[in-house]
Amino acid sequence: MYQTLLTVLAGNILSITINRPEKLNALNQTVIRELGEVVEEIYQNPVIRAAIITGSGNKAFVAGADISGFAGLGKEEGRRMAKEGLDIFFKIENSPKPIVAAVNGFALGGGCELAMACHFRLCSDTAQFGQPEVNLGLIPGYGGTQRLTRLIGKGRSMEALLTGNLINASLALQYGLVNYITTPEDLMEKTKLILQQITSKGPLAVAKCIAAANAATGGQEGFELETESFAECFATADMKEGTAAFLEKRKPVFKGI
Ligand code: COA
Repeated sequence: MYQTLLTVLAGNILSITINRPEKLNALNQTVIRELGEVVEEIYQNPVIRAAIITGSGNKAFVAGADISGFAGLGKEEGRRMAKEGLDIFFKIENSPKPIVAAVNGFALGGGCELAMACHFRLCSDTAQFGQPEVNLGLIPGYGGTQRLTRLIGKGRSMEALLTGNLINASLALQYGLVNYITTPEDLMEKTKLILQQITSKGPLAVAKCIAAANAATGGQEGFELETESFAECFATADMKEGTAAFLEKRKPVFKGI
């Protein structure tokens, strides 16, 4: 049914696996479109009461937006790309049914942003989180500057955004970025156990808790600034250099232009 997602409905819980392990489940156009479709399915299918998002293989949840798709894109296309992903991630965040991330490895860039758009997160002890876009002469474009700051606080978020350094599982737990750490083998089971608890409650009350908790951390202005800044990066030589250097497996030389 999907090209890049595997879905399994067991009872009333839908497990969604992003399935491009050879590219560390990087989010290309197809994955983004299909994530939008599967979220619509979660909204529309009355049998589904909760969902889990995870990544295929034992190395990555999602290693970010697909950098190979950035070549030749300008400011307009950058803005459009950010908007398209952001809208889907807002839909995940505002889903009346819980959507939880089971982070089984690298959750970088768009992967960290996807995990943060979910209602909460569990991870395996092998997980690593981060917003390494700065290494590419770029900034997060799917809400990372906003949701990371809201989740772990401004100082920690600033450090992660500005250094691009990764946050390992135990630090993620300490920061409140994840609720639990498990072994890789126990990750899905532990996530399902929590969701089984939630799906035994009244679905209307669950939906209202989600909406009210989201309202506590609302505000659109920062997201709009992020989108515009992300788009502006696409017009810089630094971003072209940073993304080319990643694909050519070399260190970038940034010139501030
Ligand atoms: N976009 C496109 N391709 C990606 C990718 C991404 N975000 N992340 C990884 N890949 C690809 C690699 O190019 C490589 O492809 P290849 O085998 O055809 O060369 C493959 O996935 C495996 O990745 P590799 O870098 O060889 O694995 P590693 O174990 O050495 O490093 C990471 C793992 C996650 C540290 C590294 O892949 C990385 O830094 N990825 C980019 C993270 C990032 O900047 N994300 C934000 C994007 S906006």
